[in-house]
Parts: sequence; C-alpha cells; structure tokens
Amino acid sequence: MKLLAIDDLNLEDETVFVRVDLNTPIDPNTGGLMEKERIKEAAVTIRDLDCAKVVLASHQGRVGRPDYISLEPHATILSDILGKEVKFTEDIFGPTARWEIANLKKGEVLLLDNLRFIAEENKEFKPEQAAKTVFVQRLYKLFNACILDAFPTAHRAHPSIVGFSYILPTCGGRLVVKELKALNRVTTAAKGPFITALGGSKVTDRMEAIEALINNNRADKVLLSGLIANIFFKAMDKIKYKLGISGEDEIIEKARSLLAMYPQTFELPQDVAVERSGERVEISVNELGKDEVILDIGSKTIDSYSRVIRSGGTIFMSGPAGVFEKSGFEVGTEGLLRAMASSLGTTIVSGGHLTTALQKFGIKEWIDYASTAGGALVLYLAGKRLPLIDALERAAERVEK
Ligand code: 3PG
Repeated sequence: MKLLAIDDLNLEDETVFVRVDLNTPIDPNTGGLMEKERIKEAAVTIRDLDCAKVVLASHQGRVGRPDYISLEPHATILSDILGKEVKFTEDIFGPTARWEIANLKKGEVLLLDNLRFIAEENKEFKPEQAAKTVFVQRLYKLFNACILDAFPTAHRAHPSIVGFSYILPTCGGRLVVKELKALNRVTTAAKGPFITALGGSKVTDRMEAIEALINNNRADKVLLSGLIANIFFKAMDKIKYKLGISGEDEIIEKARSLLAMYPQTFELPQDVAVERSGERVEISVNELGKDEVILDIGSKTIDSYSRVIRSGGTIFMSGPAGVFEKSGFEVGTEGLLRAMASSLGTTIVSGGHLTTALQKFGIKEWIDYASTAGGALVLYLAGKRLPLIDALERAAERVEK
C-alpha cells in the first residue's frame, strides 16, 4: 500500500481541508459527549499543521438519531486540548463558511458544522461523482490540499472522503498512518484460532462484515452479544418483540442464513441480564418477559466467552457486550475486556466505547492494539477495500505519474 503523509506535501501557508472523525457517542441523559478519544487523536494531526490554514470537517451521529447534533461542543473540547482557539461555523458550504475559510490566517483552525447536515454527505458516491457534488464544487477551489485522517469513517464513500481527494493533492493524516502501521504489525503476527467478539448497537454493517470475516478465515468462532445477539436470538425465535431496527426483517433473515451456513461458528449468550425493580437480574433467554429488554450478558456467558477468548491465537473485540453506560450493566463488557487483557494471543480492540472502557478499567496496556475505528476496522480485518484507503492510494499514484 502506497500513500503520502503530511511530510510529503508542502503545506506552508496553504489552506488545507482535513477530514477527521470527531463522531462521539452522546449521553442520552445529559446530551453531552461521552468521551474525547477521537477528538484527542484528531489533535495530533492538527498540531502538526501550524504552518497552514486548517479547515476541519467531520460528521456526528446519523440522521434521525439522538446523536445527530452540531459539532459546536467538539470545537470547545478541541480548543481545550490544543490550547488555542478552534473557530466554529454553523455553516458547511454556504457563504458564511466560504468567507471564514477565505479569511483564515496561518496557524488558525476552523471547524465546519456536522457534515451530515447536508444531504450529499449521507450518500455513497464513486469518486468522480463525489467530486461533482455541490458540496465539493462549492468549496474545493478554496483549498490547496486535502488530508484524510478519518480512519473510523474509512468505509464510507462520502464526498468528504472520496470527493475532495479526487481533485486536490491528498495525503493521510497522523491517525490514518498510525492505525495502518499498527494494524499491519498485529495482522502480520496474527495466527489462529481467530476469535471475534461482536457486540454494540450498529448492526446493519456488521452482518456483511461477519460473513466477510468468516470467508476470509478471520473468524473461527464468533461470540455474540449486544444488539447483534438479539438479532440472532430473534432469528432463532427466542425473542418475540420487534427490535425497532430499520430493515429488521431483512437483517434477521440474513442472521438465519448465517446460522444455517456456519452452525459451529456462532456462540450466543446462555444467560442475559435484565433490569427488574431497578436491579440487575440474570436469567436465561427462555425466561425473558414479553417486552423485557436484554441489557447485558450474564455471568455464565462471561465465563464461557472468556475461556474461548483465552484460547484464541488472535482475538478481535468490537462493540460493548451490553448497555455499559448504565450502572450495573457494564459487567459483561468489563469481563470480556479483562479476558482479552489476560489472553496470550494477539488482541485487537475496536472503537471509542471499548477504548474508553479499557482506560477506565486500567488495562489498556495489556491489549496489543486499541483502534479508534469500529465498523471500518471490522471490514478492514475482513479484507474489504476501504474507500478512504483507495482514495489515498489513488492520490499517491497521481503524484508518481
Ligand atoms: C463510526 O463511529 O463507526 C464512524 O464514525 C462511522 O459512523 P457511521 O457508522 O455512522 O457512518
């Protein structure tokens, strides 16, 4: 893989479009950001761009979800981390944003608002089409270069990833280079058996990724928890209520066919935790009440999954095992992460939730690699091509020619 890094471009006094990923889980009770990991990682690249005029762009959340909010709080946190002002505009490609960009001075940093507030940034495009979107066309002439540093969004062919990079001199940011280097190191060392522990609530992309992981011989065992376990329970008729996921029937059908195709690969929780009268209660799935929601895996499951994790040659964990932000229901996530930390295999932990949890439990140094990426990393490990990496390779080839 060939790509350019920041040091390969002369950015002195240039205006640079920097696509970072500041997407952060939002506390459902307070509406505040739940962690700062990705913002801290973005700061590494920004610190190295003091010689330039920096225009930062990121998405936050998904349309219609409670985490679909403005990036204004992110600008405040980033200012604190950098120790200098990060300007913020509620605009993205309108006259205000364009004026702010055109009037930036060397060393200044401007953050545009949530890219997903514009329709085009919620769609996937081929690079040449992305370059023609209104978003890219309105802005690209104001930029001299593009830096792609949004590794967690590497799997999205959105205009901010594949559009500007199609037209402008483009390189990878510090985070992208760090992630690719570390992943190259751990995947080169990888040996079987390959264990994947999958939890969390983003399920749509995961079904495709699970199949790719299995086909790519990267998942001898898949330990399911979180919402994805619910989908498989539903496919087995063990949960009766609707899960409220878009495209639910199709996803459940996919789970059913995966179970039929790979009956030995999947493990589902033997016991689960629910809330009864404000307390954590562990029951078997057959004892679930009519509308009772699973909030965590139970102790028997933690024990059996931990044994599998410790027997692995390479173990990959993505997504919390339950609603770990709710007191009493972080037990499963902590148990599995502790099993990862004490495993002798190569361990890779994915996504901001789990990285923050590793820090909270004081076991991050025992994990071989903790990545900021969630869905993008699963697809990367499954051997899929990622649009952001393709864009960087194309940009490097252009320079060679
Ligand atoms: C992530 O958190 O995985 C990335 O920011 C991508 O977010 P998305 O799955 O909403 O595209």
